[in-house]
Amino acid sequence: MSILSGKKVLLGITAGIAAYKTASLVRLFIKAGAEVQVVMTPAAKDFVTPLTLSTLSKNPVHSSFFDEEDENAVWNNHVDLGLWADFMIVAPVTANTLSKMASGNSDNLLLATYLSAKCPVYFAPAMDLDMYKHPSTHETFDKLISFGNIMIPAEAGELASGLVGQGRMAEPEHIVDFLEKDLLSKLPLKGEKVLITAGPTYEAIDPVRFIGNHSSGKMGIELALAAANLGAQVDLVLGPSSLKIDHGLVNVINVVSAEDMYQAVVSLYDRCTIAIASAAVADYRPKQVASQKIKKSDSEFSIELERTKDILKWMGEQKKHQFLVGFALETENEEENAKNKLIKKNLDLIVLNSLNDKGAGFKGATNKVTLINHKFESKAFELKTKAEVAKDIFDEIDQMKRVADLATNG
Ligand code: CTP
Repeated sequence: MSILSGKKVLLGITAGIAAYKTASLVRLFIKAGAEVQVVMTPAAKDFVTPLTLSTLSKNPVHSSFFDEEDENAVWNNHVDLGLWADFMIVAPVTANTLSKMASGNSDNLLLATYLSAKCPVYFAPAMDLDMYKHPSTHETFDKLISFGNIMIPAEAGELASGLVGQGRMAEPEHIVDFLEKDLLSKLPLKGEKVLITAGPTYEAIDPVRFIGNHSSGKMGIELALAAANLGAQVDLVLGPSSLKIDHGLVNVINVVSAEDMYQAVVSLYDRCTIAIASAAVADYRPKQVASQKIKKSDSEFSIELERTKDILKWMGEQKKHQFLVGFALETENEEENAKNKLIKKNLDLIVLNSLNDKGAGFKGATNKVTLINHKFESKAFELKTKAEVAKDIFDEIDQMKRVADLATNG
């Protein structure tokens, strides 16, 4: 899945011959799962038609503040466009528009949108080689970069003038590649290795029976997806769950019992930087596992149970550089019990869900959590989808890690 999936892309097109390539660029964005809106300078319409772009982007194309020929024209709000976008890319951008962007000129909708955009702005210049080489053009590039804009350099090749050299707008595939790499490198969890335990465990009684629980694994799977979408590499140690996850950054290790889960965690713990135990691990397992199916009889039957290993407690004892997060599912004295677990298991953060809250806990698609950190500061959240809860948890981890890094590195 491309990192562009679900992203809101605002494409600004100016009047260069390379504008004809933006039809392919829009197609590539759409194929990657992005939403696209196009804003063009009036002169850009001579190079590629708004109809082509609106058809490909599935959105109206904007090129003026309002349509002068339409009596019922509505104001094209440049501020709204700028706020809507996750990022803006101006491609191709001519020397003329570049210098206006650098000087703060806003005599068309594209420039007004650029000036009011709060999102990152990329620009892909296109011009003839001598214009590209000109010191004033380079001064403009430097100025735009110093404002925080990101340049996608022009490529070398044959130019519209017939001359050969640098100045061609980067090919649409290269632009998409550049954007994907740049966005990935800036994700907040880039470089982090996240270990997550999730789902139930099954403890065998005999070859056909087990002791299990109702955990679906959904919370852990959402945590894995959220971490991967934020750029982390994820090891997901997943107990028996009917749910599937498919993401290039998530490595799924399927396990069955608490012992399997423990062994998997032991082998992966050293290399992780963040560990989250969301699994509903059986606390007990049958002391003896019958090798054949147990036959019923008329007398009563009992199974002797023994403790499984507390995986999270082990992680707390072995903790070196890891940021450790546990879950607590409570029915009474919720905060106090959660705080005790936080200390006992040497955690940095605990996610408390109370079975007294409707919509919280095991099976459903929602959860209602309170996050408590090692200083016992707590944040209570509304009832949310498990995907949203996962994002809240990583926001909190990110903030706490930043504060800790600042304290260490000054
Ligand atoms: N946990 C674990 N290994 C176990 C048991 C629990 O890693 N054998 C983890 C869970 O994944 C969760 C946290 O520990 O993150 C829950 O703590 P626990 O003390 O087991 O609390 P409860 O399951 O709520 O049980 P109890 O209240 O009975 O202690």
